Amino acid sequence: MDLSAFPYLQGNYAPVDEERDVANGELRVEGEVPRQLTGAYMRDGANVAFQPNHYVYPLDGDGMIHAMYFNDGRVHYRNRWVQTSHLQTERKFGRTLYGSVGKLLEVPQEVVDAGGEPNPVRNTANTNVLYHGGKLLAMWEGGFPHLLNNDLSTVGLYDYDGALQPGDALTAHPKVCPDTGQLISCTQRWDSPAYNVQIFDRNAKHLRTIPVEFPRKGIIHDLQITENYVVIFYAPAFHSLERAMRGEDPFLWEPEQGTRIVVIPRDGRSENIVFETDAFFSWHFCNGFESGGLIVIDYIWINSIPFTQAQGTGVEKQPRRMFRMTLDLASKAVTNEQFSDIFSEFSRVDERRMGKHYRYAFAASSNRDWGDAHGYNCTGQFDFERGSTQLWEYGPEANAGEPVHVPNPDSEREEDGWVMCFVHNPGEGAFLSVLSAGDVSRGPVAKIHIPGRVPNGFHANWMPGVTLRGGSA
Ligand SMILES: [Fe+2]
Repeated sequence: MDLSAFPYLQGNYAPVDEERDVANGELRVEGEVPRQLTGAYMRDGANVAFQPNHYVYPLDGDGMIHAMYFNDGRVHYRNRWVQTSHLQTERKFGRTLYGSVGKLLEVPQEVVDAGGEPNPVRNTANTNVLYHGGKLLAMWEGGFPHLLNNDLSTVGLYDYDGALQPGDALTAHPKVCPDTGQLISCTQRWDSPAYNVQIFDRNAKHLRTIPVEFPRKGIIHDLQITENYVVIFYAPAFHSLERAMRGEDPFLWEPEQGTRIVVIPRDGRSENIVFETDAFFSWHFCNGFESGGLIVIDYIWINSIPFTQAQGTGVEKQPRRMFRMTLDLASKAVTNEQFSDIFSEFSRVDERRMGKHYRYAFAASSNRDWGDAHGYNCTGQFDFERGSTQLWEYGPEANAGEPVHVPNPDSEREEDGWVMCFVHNPGEGAFLSVLSAGDVSRGPVAKIHIPGRVPNGFHANWMPGVTLRGGSA
């Protein structure tokens, strides 16, 4: 592959070409692996199998899962591609057949005639990997999720026993309610602005659909829950399928329209509450909760949709910051304040506090200028009680991924858990960093070094009880 034309396939964004297993004895560990943990840390990401003809970060690229399984202080690393029908078709033909989400191509007739995947839109399965209701799913927001076995082998597309209709695109950012075990998700469609909140019970059985009407199909990547509501941002960011089919830049940013914040009652029984504010964009929420008559939302703020400013250059220089927004349900007033001036993305919390009052957030962060060497070289801890931010820097040129809070099964306290992310540090290689959630400034309590490379990726989760053999606990 010659990837020199693609800025977001350089350095540690470049793909790996092998599926590997590295067993406990072959993984060099600095520090100590927490013995209390049984489960798996898994992270999804883009890993092109064939040279692409066009590439939009972060939406393109074949999904690959990197997993670190934990059991009684022992660890096992495994990575596998998600075997999507697009990837399987390309493997059969031995070359790239499909375009990009930024530039769709007509599928060659010979591919269709041979029974290959006829949809020009590639379901990459590259965005998130989630374990809920006994199902391990690789998710991408443009289509159905892919069901995986715990050993990362692919079962196939999953429609929640028929709850998803053909053409439904399930978000890659559902939230799990810690009280009910419900999965609060949504579907959108390529062919209409329809947006439907979808609620599944703790066993992944579909409970209800709550429709939300929008005039145009917006780019709505994430959603946030509170005890009683689902909150979404409707930014003036749009994707035009027609423009993508014509080979034009399909991404539109219309800031004069402002950003709408839509608050949707989770029971589906009362009206949505809509707030209006100046235009901003966000990929990711951090957390949200209700406090008196206010809804508090913490999220990563961006001043506009990233694609429009630096499409194809790979040098994104827009600030991304942790913001705290309050929504006054009575007066409809919106306040929106920067919490930290640290460049951050991929914010996470202790999932037991999802939708509830909480103290700590974690994010991939950077303590240096956002130059050509693109990446997050730190894990950040945000203390909302003290109003402070702590960083642990892995190295000036390091790339640190999404930090996932892993609770200590013996404690209810956020600070007694760990925070894990994959790190690539030139000169040191790849490792899974295990930080103390209460004090990231001490540095990793364990570094699990992985021979070879783990490319930069997207979203990760801790899957309690999931082991390599024998299914879930
Ligand atoms: Fe995301």
